[in-house]
Amino acid sequence: MKIAIDGHSSCGKSTLAKQLAKHFGFTYIDTGAMYRTVTLYSMRNGLIKNGSIDETALQSKISGIKVGFKKDGHATLDGEDIEREIRSLDVSKNVSKVAALKFVRKEMVTLQRKMSQDSSVVMDGRDIGTVVFPDAELKIFVTARDEVRAQRRYDELKAKGEQTTFQTVLENLRQRDFLDTTRDVDPLIKADDAILLDNSDMTLEQQFDVARKLVTDRME
Ligand code: DC
Repeated sequence: MKIAIDGHSSCGKSTLAKQLAKHFGFTYIDTGAMYRTVTLYSMRNGLIKNGSIDETALQSKISGIKVGFKKDGHATLDGEDIEREIRSLDVSKNVSKVAALKFVRKEMVTLQRKMSQDSSVVMDGRDIGTVVFPDAELKIFVTARDEVRAQRRYDELKAKGEQTTFQTVLENLRQRDFLDTTRDVDPLIKADDAILLDNSDMTLEQQFDVARKLVTDRME
């Protein structure tokens, strides 16, 4: 069974996907982490300078970038646990531009399908229901009001000790929404057959309850 969870930045997709994967014993795949890992690689190797990407250089390297996950779900770059680094605001600022590149998406989508070959998966991202698994048994499109999403993200970053302001986080989030929904290649869009879940006024438990019932229904 394939469950596709798409939606806007910081709307709680990955929390929901992880809960579902744990509950049903499915594999969880965080595709945003994969685009973040490619972004971190690019930043470390001087392929992104002042927000501008050396596309030719990245294209020549892309198939050799070792993007993966550890058993605990942490993202890895060439075997190194880079989970914490990829969540930084620096990576967040650059990731939408990297994720808009056609050759990057092609490589990641191939890898995502390969990772899902042998098990039931819950995959979250932006194009899972539209591109990666258009035939997924269940598609959920998650969203929430942007101020609500920014507040959640701000609280998360503060808890990790990052120095930032609510306004910076809100602007970054709106910028990412804009880039994700307007890019030429595989933009964020709700699949026709996806179920819309606006969690602005829901607790995590309420959201999980709704989604769990959807999965159970599909299984039956
Ligand atoms: O879900 P996230 O915030 O970690 O995603 C990081 C970025 O990667 C975000 O700007 C959108 C992009 N992304 C994408 O284009 N396609 C996906 N399947 C997952 C994420």
